[in-house]
Amino acid sequence: MWGLTSIFPPAPSWNVEQVPDQTGRIAIVTGGNSGIGLETVRELLRKNAKVYLACRSEERAHKAMDELQRNQLPGKIEFLRLDLASLHSIKEFSEQFLAKEQRLDMLFNSAGVMNPYVGPETKDGYELHLGTNSLGHHYLTQLLVPALQVSAKASPDRPPRVCFTSSIAHRATSPKGFDPTDPTGLHTYCYMPAHNRAYGTSKFCNILSANWFQRNLGAQNIVFTSCHPGILKTGLVREWNQGFNTIMMPIIEAAIFYPQRMGCITQLYLNTAPEAATKGGSYFAPWARQVDPLPLARDVGVQDTFAKWVDEQVTKHMGQPVDL
Ligand SMILES: NC(=O)c1ccc[n+]([C@@H]2O[C@H](COP(=O)([O-])OP(=O)(O)OC[C@H]3O[C@@H](n4cnc5c(N)ncnc54)[C@H](OP(=O)(O)O)[C@@H]3O)[C@@H](O)[C@H]2O)c1
Repeated sequence: MWGLTSIFPPAPSWNVEQVPDQTGRIAIVTGGNSGIGLETVRELLRKNAKVYLACRSEERAHKAMDELQRNQLPGKIEFLRLDLASLHSIKEFSEQFLAKEQRLDMLFNSAGVMNPYVGPETKDGYELHLGTNSLGHHYLTQLLVPALQVSAKASPDRPPRVCFTSSIAHRATSPKGFDPTDPTGLHTYCYMPAHNRAYGTSKFCNILSANWFQRNLGAQNIVFTSCHPGILKTGLVREWNQGFNTIMMPIIEAAIFYPQRMGCITQLYLNTAPEAATKGGSYFAPWARQVDPLPLARDVGVQDTFAKWVDEQVTKHMGQPVDL
């Protein structure tokens, strides 16, 4: 049942018109130049937020900003370069952001890659899905905690929020969920294609991150959640239009893909709806419905194992872990 309603969800009972006014509030949207991220930015600007477009390509960021500015939305937008496939770029991004702003009210960890193959690696040598989607976003969130803490103190009745965009595909993680001796799970189980396992594990780790942060920082009045945004016609499958997929993708898209603009509903609900401020540690499915993730995502031992693995990787490449 969980699977079916995540693929064919009931009609939304909450919509983006309900995003409260965001005047004076600051957001970061990773991957805000495309797909779900772009739609999220659009709605935040419509409600007067100041939004940092955290993207790896300045050219694609400006193309998106030009499109958004044509709509004459009242919010403010600024580009800051972020390549989640590089720990140094993440550090540089956070330093630049913290030099510009003291507070952070909403962090949308929305960027992601999903390739129909495994092989490419991040700049630091991690499998691309795990390195970009999971390690990158966990490290970024750690570095931005000081700004979240400022907001938590400054606006106790409107706590800052962080949403990790996961996926229904998190269910394709390995039987242990996350295993530091085989972080992608590619070597210890093989009952589905490697790219599905790598992507699934990376999206499972997004839920581990949200739950780990909630457990460790929730008491400081910061709210961490995760979600499956729906199955949406975005740029995510751009690498899939090759070979046999050129025939299959249009059929699959017509059967189960929803319009891109609907992809922002669930994460905007989690990061802006007043009633969602009590939902720390929850996992949501489209459209803004609380559901249960894979039970392993609730396992504090697995969450701690992943967080410890991140700290070890950060120490290896950056000299020391982030001191929270
Ligand atoms: N679409 C779906 O059906 C679906 C379903 C479940 C979950 N999701 C999740 O939704 C999120 C958004 O995906 P989408 O569907 O909106 O796809 P999308 O249109 O391809 O957007 C992905 C965004 O991530 C950015 N990105 C990729 N690698 C990056 C890196 N190294 N550093 C910084 N940014 C990077 C992309 O930047 P470039 O433009 O530079 O490539 C793009 O802005 C992803 O986390 C995905 O896993 C999507």
